[in-house]
Amino acid sequence: MSHPVSPDAADAAGARGERVFVKSFGCQMNVYDSQRMTDLALTQGYSETADIAEADLVVFNTCHIRERAAEKLYSELGKAREVKQARAAEGKATKLVVAGCVAQAEGREILRRQSAVDIVVGPQNYHRLPALLRARGAVVDTDFAVEDKFEQLPPPTEAATRGRGVSAFVTVQEGCDKFCAFCVVPYTRGAEVSRPADKILAEIARLAEAGACEFTLIGQNVNAYRDEDGIGLAALLSRAADLPGVARLRYSTSHPNDMDEALIAAHAENPKLAPCLHLPVQSGSNRILRAMNRRHDVAAYLDIIARVRRARPDIAFSSDFIVGFPGETEADFEATLALVEAVGFAFAYAFKYSSRPGTPAADAPDQVAAAVIEARHARLFALLESQRQAFNRATVGRRFGVIFDKPGRHPGQLIGRSPYMQAVHAEAAAERIGLMSQVEIVDIRPNSLRGRLVEAS
Ligand code: SAH
Ligand code: SF4
Ligand code: F3S
Repeated sequence: MSHPVSPDAADAAGARGERVFVKSFGCQMNVYDSQRMTDLALTQGYSETADIAEADLVVFNTCHIRERAAEKLYSELGKAREVKQARAAEGKATKLVVAGCVAQAEGREILRRQSAVDIVVGPQNYHRLPALLRARGAVVDTDFAVEDKFEQLPPPTEAATRGRGVSAFVTVQEGCDKFCAFCVVPYTRGAEVSRPADKILAEIARLAEAGACEFTLIGQNVNAYRDEDGIGLAALLSRAADLPGVARLRYSTSHPNDMDEALIAAHAENPKLAPCLHLPVQSGSNRILRAMNRRHDVAAYLDIIARVRRARPDIAFSSDFIVGFPGETEADFEATLALVEAVGFAFAYAFKYSSRPGTPAADAPDQVAAAVIEARHARLFALLESQRQAFNRATVGRRFGVIFDKPGRHPGQLIGRSPYMQAVHAEAAAERIGLMSQVEIVDIRPNSLRGRLVEAS
């Protein structure tokens, strides 16, 4: 079933001067989807606004990964309800849409908790928004669509692509088949699906033409990417590197079990691939990894780290950790600290375990006390922070390519990203925005590096 986009609707919304406001929560996949929903609204004649009070169409693209993420939605919806009521008093209608992972997980429950909501649409169904907008009364669309949403979405308009910035995300893979015991993603995003390589490359080429030069290929398990012709992530990255205008490539997020030889070799062979690998490990205890259903142990993780380092000695690793998974003992936690010491991360996220309804770990009897989680989290955070600072310090005196993407706080200054994702600011002419510049790092600040322009490249 598909709902082709109607040009009449575009004319109608455009003629009425209607505006769309989209707010994204959660991961990069949601950032990408939010962009595509905005594009879709633009093809329907809406124009974009950053002011919710001006919006005829309000979309919250939501995240369900931790309890706090999901709860944030309801406080946002409470505020949106007031805006909607104030607009109604002025005779203006507002459609309120909840999209994304909370929509998928909670469906109709959202309408019960907040009656101001008009549309609830899951992450696999948002290409149907134009039809849903035409429906009367509240609607919920969270069946996993059989058709491919990317095929149904109209290509973004020229205007939408222009000015999108120099760094772009492109979703290449969606969904997850791994079923880690703590995680909602397999339920909210469905099974692993890869987009055809030629469609992805065409999208990158179009974004490059519009001014982007750094591309992050994203997926819930991006290194599980394999399209119907058998093209894997390493081959996709190699083809992307050959496209005109592509200066730097990244990919995120990877699962240790999908790190194959070809992808490791790409870190040695693909000169445009940034020397970074985000490889979540979650825990340094084999017992906890087993309970989490991660399907690899500490030794296997460290072996991947060693192999990637051999392929690319200057690689920087980052990771995700969960503190306080049910059953985690002091000894398990110490093993996590030991793993962090053994690897040495450029940065990493430490999350406090959050029990998610419907996941296997939610019913585990041995939940860890909140105060214990708090204390362990503080210890892990301190260790990760010291590693991050050490990594940043070690870049002083190094030269590398920085892609500037915006003006800095002080006149004559630009801000960009190092190959390692660090924010770098340096004195440089505004024309350098969107270009790769050679920069020498001269100093570090708490959250950025100060650089000196060496030469243009
Ligand atoms: N697909 C990726 C990441 C998905 S979610 C992967 O496999 O690594 C991003 C991170 O959120 C996870 O790596 C995990 O560290 C964290 N996370 C997921 N569920 C969580 C939960 N219930 N409580 C706390 N953190 C969680
Ligand atoms: Fe969640 Fe695990 Fe899948 Fe990552 S691999 S999305 S943590 S179930
Ligand atoms: Fe959140 Fe869904 Fe992404 S739960 S992290 S928005 S896949």
